[in-house]
Amino acid sequence: MKTYTELPGDAGSNIIGQVNDQHSRLNKRLSFVEHTVAIMSGKGGVGKSAITANIATALTQMGCSVGIVDADINGPTIAKMVGVRNATLEYTTSGVNPAIDSLGTKIISMDLLLPNDDSPVMWNAHSQKDAFTWRSTMEVSALREFIADTQWGELNYLLLDLPPGSERLPNVIELIPNLGGVIIVTIPSDVSHLIVKKSVTMTRDILKVPIIGVVENMAYYICPHCGESEQLFASEQTPDNAFQSTTIGKIPFDPKLSHCSDSGTPYVNIYPETDTSKSLIQVAKKIQSFFRT
Ligand SMILES: Nc1ncnc2c1ncn2[C@@H]1O[C@H](COP(=O)(O)OP(=O)(O)OP(=O)(O)O)[C@@H](O)[C@H]1O
Ligand SMILES: [Mg+2]
Repeated sequence: MKTYTELPGDAGSNIIGQVNDQHSRLNKRLSFVEHTVAIMSGKGGVGKSAITANIATALTQMGCSVGIVDADINGPTIAKMVGVRNATLEYTTSGVNPAIDSLGTKIISMDLLLPNDDSPVMWNAHSQKDAFTWRSTMEVSALREFIADTQWGELNYLLLDLPPGSERLPNVIELIPNLGGVIIVTIPSDVSHLIVKKSVTMTRDILKVPIIGVVENMAYYICPHCGESEQLFASEQTPDNAFQSTTIGKIPFDPKLSHCSDSGTPYVNIYPETDTSKSLIQVAKKIQSFFRT
């Protein structure tokens, strides 16, 4: 078998034409989307997906039409968190219909395309040497397809739940050059700040994309017995100091949120009166006011 490096030209595939076609489909889809927002963090496991799922729910409950692109191609979790893992995607000549959760948020995720729970995403490269290039090329292609080939219809907000790593945002900017803004997620630990700072630099100084604000997740924990709030992490620094960026939400740790994520039920809908829900709803409102000003 010949590799792509050994093939003359595009070997008759008209690959440039295919990508250009997809690019114009993507631009057409985005012309029906009012605002695009990426949720990112250099750090893994800080709550990007749980926050995406819940601010999407909050925005939907406020009457907005909302879509989520699960941009974590290798570790997709959004479909599980919003309870659409069993949805069957419907394909039509003009694109695929996204899954729709119980409240009306639209979702597309690699998780909806995998044959079963145990299946990893595999990109078959010809050799280990090509695997790195191939994998990132295929990830960008999958993302391009998710945006371009999904029938989103008219949306007020399209949220993109990014995988960990500050290098992911350039891929998104390649597809959505006028991305509306970024939410940066951190937890209150110096280790998290160290890594998340790189995302802030990438977003604000290198790519010059507006940062809507920083969300400090697992900011504290309220004891269910005495009602006192306790710190879970030890950092002395606030995100405002660490990143010179505005904090738009401090989300308390609540085991019920984790339970809701696992059971695919939207936490902000089920427990609207908790401090955690109020902070998440506040973040959704800050997103709205960011685009109003
Ligand atoms: N405020 C919170 N209270 C309780 N549990 C939380 C909270 N935020 C997130 N979690 C839980 O923590 C775990 C990690 O969250 P999540 O998967 O959203 O992180 P992530 O940043 O998206 O991870 P990855 O980097 O792997 O994409 C999940 O089980 C989630 O339900
Ligand atoms: Mg995630």
